[in-house]
Amino acid sequence: MLDIQNLQVVYGTGRMRVDAVKNVSFHVEPGAAYGLVGESGSGKSTVLRAICGLAPITSGRVSVDGAAVTTPRSKAFYRTVQMVFQDPYASLHPRHTVDRTLSEPLAIHGEKDAEARILQALKEVGLGPSFRFRYPHQLSGGQRQRIAIARALILRPKVLLLDEPTSALDASVQAEILNLLNDLRRRLGLTYILVSHDLAVVAHLCERLLVMQHGEAVEETTADALRSGAASNTYTQSLIQASQGFTRVAPQTARAPAA
Ligand SMILES: Nc1ncnc2c1ncn2[C@@H]1O[C@H](COP(=O)(O)OP(=O)(O)OP(=O)(O)O)[C@@H](O)[C@H]1O
Ligand SMILES: [Mg+2]
Repeated sequence: MLDIQNLQVVYGTGRMRVDAVKNVSFHVEPGAAYGLVGESGSGKSTVLRAICGLAPITSGRVSVDGAAVTTPRSKAFYRTVQMVFQDPYASLHPRHTVDRTLSEPLAIHGEKDAEARILQALKEVGLGPSFRFRYPHQLSGGQRQRIAIARALILRPKVLLLDEPTSALDASVQAEILNLLNDLRRRLGLTYILVSHDLAVVAHLCERLLVMQHGEAVEETTADALRSGAASNTYTQSLIQASQGFTRVAPQTARAPAA
């Protein structure tokens, strides 16, 4: 469904030059969920942005559904690929109702049956028709992210690019949204690329993942290998350790053994 070959993204020139992504390649099968993990600034978001046309492809090739993408992306591209951003507070227009937010892509693409499609999209993300005429400030963070997902789904895309879709939400809401995403992928046969700095989130949703550091691909591995601690690369191991967080050491084991 997605094939990324030797992707390079450079921002700026001269002293302002940033090599955000260096020679990254990966491949995602239809219906799969693929994770991108790595520390802050490692280039994860830039990979997603380069795929959907929000960052330049300096060199390399991005193919979606068997065809290389064009710059600028075609209208047909956005029927196939949609993106969900991290912050549902920033990604929804504060003065647009849910109805207007969901109508816009339909109008741009000349789709009919807007009303039925909007109600269907709301249902898919677990929200009733009463949400249709609310404004973002009348929604919780989790509900906002559901609306952002509904907007991404309304054109019936095949691929969702998810950039930290749950990191702005608190833990219980995060789990709800992850379950919703899992569910939607199965029901609608979607393909995902999920960016997260949280290995647990990626392991929950993805089968395979790419570990990135300083714009480079460090290691491709599987969620199963992560769970069993079988990562071969030392950077990946340090990410696993970091995501396990604070581990309590019992006082008797922390003390030096008696001579
Ligand atoms: N528009 C831009 N112009 C110049 N440099 C940029 C731009 N966008 C990102 N960068 C730089 O590219 C590098 C990769 O950024 P990116 O946002 O892809 O990282 P990330 O892995 O998504 O980090 P985070 O986990 O913090 O979101 C960083 O060094 C960043 O400062
Ligand atoms: Mg990012």
